[in-house]
Amino acid sequence: MQPPDRRPRRLRRTPALRRAFAETTVPASALVLPVFVAADLDEPVPVASLPGVFQHSVASAVRLAEDCVAAGVGGVILFGLPAVKDPVGSSGWDPAGPVPRALEAMRAAVGEELVLWADVCQCEYTDHGHCGPLDATGQVDNDAAVEGYVRDALAYAAAGADLVAPSGMMDGQVAAIRRGLDADGAAHVGVVAYAAKYASAFYGPFRDAAGSSMVSGDRAGHQLDPANAREAARELDLDAAEGADALMVKPALAYLDVVAEARRRHALPVAAYHVSGEYAMVRAAADRGWLDGEAALSESVLSIRRAGADLVLTYAALELARGATR
Ligand code: PBG
Repeated sequence: MQPPDRRPRRLRRTPALRRAFAETTVPASALVLPVFVAADLDEPVPVASLPGVFQHSVASAVRLAEDCVAAGVGGVILFGLPAVKDPVGSSGWDPAGPVPRALEAMRAAVGEELVLWADVCQCEYTDHGHCGPLDATGQVDNDAAVEGYVRDALAYAAAGADLVAPSGMMDGQVAAIRRGLDADGAAHVGVVAYAAKYASAFYGPFRDAAGSSMVSGDRAGHQLDPANAREAARELDLDAAEGADALMVKPALAYLDVVAEARRRHALPVAAYHVSGEYAMVRAAADRGWLDGEAALSESVLSIRRAGADLVLTYAALELARGATR
C-alpha cells in the first residue's frame, strides 16, 4: 500500500493535542438546571423516572441554587407544583405560589450570581393538565391561555426572575408577554422563547416530575409535529420578530438539525432543552450497566453545543459542571 500523505490522526495522538484542537467546549456557565418546586413539601421527594432529580421544597430549592453557584452552573429554570389546580390554572400567577416564593428566596440567597429563569405555562396549574383554559371543542383557547401567561410572567418578574420562558406554543405569546412586561415596569426581564417545541414522547418523565400529565388528549394541536423542520423555522422567525431575546429548541438530541438551523438563521442566542426523556433513557441504561452514564450525558450535551446551542438546559447540569473537563 502507498503510505497516506495526509494523516489527520497526528492531531489526535495525545490528550493534550486533542484538548488543543477541540472545536467545542461545555462551560458550566452555558448550563441551566431545571428545578421543580412544590408548594406543600417540607423535604425533597425523588422523582422515580428521573434519577437524581427531586421535587423540592422552597428551602431545598434554595440549597440547590447555592450548589449551582458553587459549581459555576449558569442558571436554573423553575417549574412549580401548586397546592391547588383549577380549569384556568390561576395558581400560576399567585404571588404566593411555589415559583414566586422560590425566586424570592433564591434571589435573597444567591444575589445575582445565578441567572434565574421561570418557565411560563399553565399545564402544571390546570386541573386537566392542558397548557391553558379549554374552549368548547376541548382545544386550548389560544388567546385566553396567552392572557394567563402574561399574568404568570408579571408575577415571576415581580418575584425577581431574570428571564421568563414561555413554553406553551400559543400563537402571539412572546409579543404579548413582552408588551405586558414593558407596561409593568419589567422591561429589564428577558423573554427566552421556546420557539420550536415539538409534541414529543421524550417529555414523559417531566410530566411525572411536574405533575402535568393530561387527564385526556395530547398537545399536538399546538406543539410542532416532529415531521416538520420548515415549520420550526417559521416559528423561530416569528418569535424573533415578536421580540424574543433568545430562541429555544426542544427536545435537543432528536432535533439537532433544528438547533443548527436556528443557529444559521438568527444572531440571537440559541438555547436547547435536553429534555427529561433524553436524560432518563441514559440513566436507565447506565443503571443496567449498559453504558457509561456520565460519558453519555457529557457527549450528549457536547453534541448539542456542537450543533449550535449557546445554552443547554439539562438535568445533568450540576454533575457536568462539577466534573467539567471541557
Ligand atoms: C411545559 C413544559 C414541558 C417541558 C418543559 N416545559 C412539558 C410539556 O410540554 O408537556 C418538558 C421538559 C422535559 O421533558 O424535560 N410547561
